[in-house]
Amino acid sequence: MGLTACGVSPGSFGSLGLERSCGVLELLDPGTRAHSIRVMRLSLSLGRALDLPEESLGLLGLSALLHDVGKVKVPDWVLQKRGPLSPVERSMIQMHPSAGAAILRAEGFCDQVVLGALHHHERFDGWGYPEGLRGEEIPFFARIIAVADAFEAMTSRRPYRNAMGHRDALEEILHHRFDQFDPALAEAFAEVCGFVRPEGSCFTELPDTPNMPHGDLMHSIRVPEVH
Ligand SMILES: [Fe+2]
Repeated sequence: MGLTACGVSPGSFGSLGLERSCGVLELLDPGTRAHSIRVMRLSLSLGRALDLPEESLGLLGLSALLHDVGKVKVPDWVLQKRGPLSPVERSMIQMHPSAGAAILRAEGFCDQVVLGALHHHERFDGWGYPEGLRGEEIPFFARIIAVADAFEAMTSRRPYRNAMGHRDALEEILHHRFDQFDPALAEAFAEVCGFVRPEGSCFTELPDTPNMPHGDLMHSIRVPEVH
């Protein structure tokens, strides 16, 4: 697959990173590949707004592009299932960050790339997975990818639901800054998207909104351990 067609300069990945990432991407089904490319673009937009140096942008792009590669280890019938997941199915999906990190390590990617993928489902409040890291314990790339991933998932149409509008998705991300997302990154992302709330401020207290289904969509809470 041609990464230049995704709007990415191969130079920013380095030739080795480019070659390896193409090989790993080939493992993914077309839907996950398309999602991954959009998450990479959104992550890079946020990274550029944060003035990350070019070398970091290259690594961030790789990590975002490959963040879901562990889904190759999850059976299709679980990934495609419509409706609520059983605890066992949920735990099968929740193994994908660790599986992905193992694949990326075996392919020789550096720690920053691996850790971005390993921790992209951690939550800022510590209730994410796989390790329940909280706040700034969560690697920086993973906190960026978490915001981009949630926005992409909410604004994409799936066979079982319509896409959420961009404005609603950004409201949702801002609503969950502090619990799910790094607040500074959630706010910077809203700014990157040119989001201005009607009252003229992006970041005033948001009104209570009903719980949106994105928690399920992102299967974002750890599976409770069964003893
Ligand atoms: Fe994921």
